[in-house]
Amino acid sequence: MIQQVRVGLVGLGQRGLQHLGALWRIEGAKVVALCDPFPENLEEEKIGRFVEGFCLDGIRTYTRFDDLLGNQNEDAGVDALYFCIPPNRHGGEVIAAVTAGVHVFVEKPVSLYYDEAMEMEAAIQSAGVISTVGFNQRHDHRHEAIHHLLQDKRLVMATAVANGALEAHSTKHTRTEELGGPGNRVWAASAAWSGTTVVEAGIHQLDTMRYWAGDVAWTRADYVHRDAEDIEDGGDNPYAYSVTFGFESGFLFNLLLARLRKTFWGDGYAGLMWDHGHVKIEGDEVAAYYYEGPYPPAEGDRPSSNDLRHLVALPEKRDGTFHINQCFIEAVGRGDTSPLRNSFSSSMNSLAAVLAANLSDHLGGRKIMLDDFATSSEFADFRRKPTQET
Ligand SMILES: NC(=O)c1ccc[n+]([C@@H]2O[C@H](COP(=O)([O-])OP(=O)(O)OC[C@H]3O[C@@H](n4cnc5c(N)ncnc54)[C@H](O)[C@@H]3O)[C@@H](O)[C@H]2O)c1
Repeated sequence: MIQQVRVGLVGLGQRGLQHLGALWRIEGAKVVALCDPFPENLEEEKIGRFVEGFCLDGIRTYTRFDDLLGNQNEDAGVDALYFCIPPNRHGGEVIAAVTAGVHVFVEKPVSLYYDEAMEMEAAIQSAGVISTVGFNQRHDHRHEAIHHLLQDKRLVMATAVANGALEAHSTKHTRTEELGGPGNRVWAASAAWSGTTVVEAGIHQLDTMRYWAGDVAWTRADYVHRDAEDIEDGGDNPYAYSVTFGFESGFLFNLLLARLRKTFWGDGYAGLMWDHGHVKIEGDEVAAYYYEGPYPPAEGDRPSSNDLRHLVALPEKRDGTFHINQCFIEAVGRGDTSPLRNSFSSSMNSLAAVLAANLSDHLGGRKIMLDDFATSSEFADFRRKPTQET
């Protein structure tokens, strides 16, 4: 058992700073190392703008990951590393870390390339370290309540609609303009950097469905691609996406996403049905709609929506990002994975499902079985990481 987990963060951008903010408040964690190729992202003053009370005392900073890992000895080592870098920028760091015996928290999507993710997974398995992937939505108190509600249900179908605006993407901290990416650093709008909106954002909704409904067996997708004259500064992700995920149980999940430009409009919908009911998140509440009276109801006694609406009891409201950090630190500290809601290995199905959506669209909406996606020689080129140009 580790008394206090010595933690390092690799990538001090939007997500790394959020994790650092959480770790700063978790007693069992001691931040000892920070790594980012751009020195400005390691400055105390900059980090202090995002993390209240931050100071660099006792923390080593590195612009080269190899130097961080080179210090992996009694005095200056880390027990766990967080990887919060753009998913197209991995260069063997996760594999090197786990091979050195370091536990890992890897942000989603763990890669844009299935082969690369498989190599990371194999190294994690063989090292036997603790691992998790940043699916913080599993830690949302409302999602947790739905998970429990659905345990004994015959799940049928869910639909999530997320209409977003391209301009709603944040400006990131990676100097993409120096790496052949967008000049405005809004890399989530770029297919080469984000892997499409389904891979970058939709993987959250899909993974939450997996938390409720188990593993995905197949994917089918059609995208409406952005017109060439509507692409600005590398923001070339499609206008809209229509994806169906078929689960092993027969459950279907329809994911409809949009990222329009010059609209500044966004809204959404999410609902799931089992064989005899519906469940929806309604703001801070979770409502389930089902009938409990005598069946069939007496003539003229049709139940009203009030009769059907049941509020689902919720655990205490919490910040999912803070909670996923607490769980990971507790798991590493105790050497026991039970606080975790996923591992790197168990998250591979989420990655395969969204990467297979891109493949399905590419093949004109063909149904892609995930087993084939992962193993068939027909899709080998699609799984492979292209040679890094920058
Ligand atoms: N779970 C969530 O809710 C959530 C939210 C936001 C982002 N993310 C994920 O976190 C990851 C990082 O996204 P972000 O928003 O923080 O991007 P970002 O561009 O703001 O930050 C990435 C940071 O990594 C640094 N970096 C780049 N390459 C590196 C390397 N090889 N080694 C070390 N540092 C490197 C950059 O300089 C930058 O500071 C992405 O995979 C993203 O999808 C997850």
